[in-house]
Amino acid sequence: MTNHNENIFPVFHEIHGRTEKETLLKQRSKVIWLTGLSGSGKTTIAKHLEEILFGKGFLTQILDGDNIRSGINNNLGFSDADRFENIRRIAEVSKLFVNCGVITINCFISPTEEMRDLARKIIGSDDFIEIYVNAPLRVCEERDVKGLYSKARRGEIKEFTGISSPFETPENIDIEIRTDLLTIEESVKQVLDMILPRIIC
Ligand code: ADX
Repeated sequence: MTNHNENIFPVFHEIHGRTEKETLLKQRSKVIWLTGLSGSGKTTIAKHLEEILFGKGFLTQILDGDNIRSGINNNLGFSDADRFENIRRIAEVSKLFVNCGVITINCFISPTEEMRDLARKIIGSDDFIEIYVNAPLRVCEERDVKGLYSKARRGEIKEFTGISSPFETPENIDIEIRTDLLTIEESVKQVLDMILPRIIC
């Protein structure tokens, strides 16, 4: 592939910058990055969190693996390289939202430390809140909300996270939520208590 970077002149300053937009929205923008196995509860937490934040007057945008992979990332699969590219694009998109003052709630397995580090590097560690949504593989497999674990066990899906593709325990997290031990309400409250001080103006 030709590298056209030398002919590209990015301009990052805008007429109205991030701080002004945050002031307009009366919030501080962050990326709330939920990592965890498929079926661990990332999307469920994100939806409840958005609902509560919306009620409190915060503007948020959920970015979710299944949705993003049916749109902007519909050319990507689940090889290591494709997952990297998936996370890289998501991180770049999240950064645009953050620069617009919007809080993003990201639900991506993001299975390796290297992928999560890449996201943190692109977004910037001050704006990156990493949450490990953790339920043991056994529990996620029992839930099997999308029927994907049984397909993976039958060999019908290759490179399935937790079964035939690795998930590395996140080391750099702000908080871990054990969704097998907590109710949805308790899980969301733990997240909320942690993020509120960081998003209130
Ligand atoms: S990531 O590993 O690149 O971060 P992402 O979060 O975008 O993954 O997508 C995960 C979702 O894709 C899962 O929730 C599941 O619905 C679906 N999926 C399909 N195939 C796989 C697979 N091989 N491994 C994991 N998830 C898969």
